[in-house]
Amino acid sequence: MIGRSPIICGVFKLLAFATVVTCLPPQRSQLTESQLSALVDSHPPFPALNPNYYTTATTASNLSAQSVSDRIGGGNAGETLALLTPMLIPRAPGSDNATIIRDFIKGHFHGLSNWTAFTDGFTATVPEYGGIPGALNFTNLIFRLTPPGTDHLPSRYLTLVAHYDSKISPFGFIGATDSAVPCAILMYLAESLTPHILKRWKSDLGAISDDTGLQIIFMDGEEALVQWTDQDSLYGSRHLAQLWESEKKVAQFGRLSTLQEIDLFVLLDLLGAASPAVPCFFEITSWACRGLAETERRVRNAGLAKANGQKPFIRTDSVMKNAFVDDDHMPFLRRGIPVMHVIPIPFPVVWHTMNDDGAHLSSEAVHDWAVLITGWVAGYLGLGDFL
Ligand SMILES: *[C@@H]1O[C@H](CO)[C@@H](O)[C@H](O)[C@H]1NC(C)=O
Ligand SMILES: *[C@@H]1O[C@H](CO)[C@@H](O)[C@H](O)[C@H]1NC(C)=O
Ligand SMILES: *[C@@H]1O[C@H](CO)[C@@H](O)[C@H](O)[C@H]1NC(C)=O
Ligand SMILES: *[C@@H]1O[C@H](CO)[C@@H](O)[C@H](O)[C@H]1NC(C)=O
Ligand SMILES: [Zn+2]
Repeated sequence: MIGRSPIICGVFKLLAFATVVTCLPPQRSQLTESQLSALVDSHPPFPALNPNYYTTATTASNLSAQSVSDRIGGGNAGETLALLTPMLIPRAPGSDNATIIRDFIKGHFHGLSNWTAFTDGFTATVPEYGGIPGALNFTNLIFRLTPPGTDHLPSRYLTLVAHYDSKISPFGFIGATDSAVPCAILMYLAESLTPHILKRWKSDLGAISDDTGLQIIFMDGEEALVQWTDQDSLYGSRHLAQLWESEKKVAQFGRLSTLQEIDLFVLLDLLGAASPAVPCFFEITSWACRGLAETERRVRNAGLAKANGQKPFIRTDSVMKNAFVDDDHMPFLRRGIPVMHVIPIPFPVVWHTMNDDGAHLSSEAVHDWAVLITGWVAGYLGLGDFL
């Protein structure tokens, strides 16, 4: 599952010192401290993810148009586009606001090179509640960056996931940590890493067909509409897992469905409050969680963290063996997909209250999560030499 090993590359280089043999650095590795610094310098997360930063001239109904035109035409004189503050509106499933947010996210990826977009739209039966009918339309958004040369091969994607819907009650609930911040971090990450990923894939065209690509999912309908039950929650992830399980692929490669193209399912939730403590949940993916903790150590050593003097965000000392939190990973976990769940225990104190808004975020924590997740993904995709 790993990109080609450095040892084999070294041997190739010795044997063929007179010929031109290039080798890619391995995937699933870690950036060094200086590589992390270079990555953050080349594309800092602030101001775009600063909870107090508003791009001028943004009208909610025009986010998508603005996002695309700024990126393509360099509009608004190089102004950095806000990625977090536009997400900080109520985003209940089936609402006009949800459509605005989807357009915003789609516009963002449309402005990046080489991403393919998919939507998974469906109607589900929901409990009768207030003015809501017994059925609602939900839409998951999926974006993929696929290594070239994989047309006839199975693909494999590091898969990053957050939900973009917000709770329908109390009225006006924002859900800044739940999960506007994780969504904005994923948009930032894609923008920051796309040029480096494409640089890696351009560097050695013969050797990348076994590379891992990147897939980002924005789930709809994570929240319960009335009260959390197996039927009233996880509308988007339940539908997508079932859909992908049924999409059969070429069996001779041992990959039977779209579902199995997921290399690792990384779910971000409830991030952005001060002093988070995220445990490792699953023994089978503790390697990934330990890797994230190691990246955090390097981020702090390199002086790239704003929330200093705190305990680490990732707590490898508390591996939760039998406990888990019901969330969008469950329909995938039940189908055998390896999962890393990045969610703090305890939940933020503002959880599911009107205080889960921009004013109660820790901008330091938002910044540090963006650096940490982006740096870890860069290592996972083997970008160390392509920054
Ligand atoms: C959206 O943007 C376009 C192009 O910038 C502009 O012509 C249009 O009037 C805007 N629409 C709204 C509703 O603001
Ligand atoms: C939609 O978002 C706006 C803020 O842009 C907010 O004022 C309004 O209440 C939201 N609508 C719903 C139905 O939540
Ligand atoms: C990215 O897209 C461009 C234009 O469509 C294409 O020429 C290039 O090969 C793509 N790069 C990769 C790495 O897929
Ligand atoms: C769902 O979408 C379809 C097609 O766009 C539309 O006809 C239908 O009215 C929508 N249903 C609900 C419950 O909003
Ligand atoms: Zn929630």
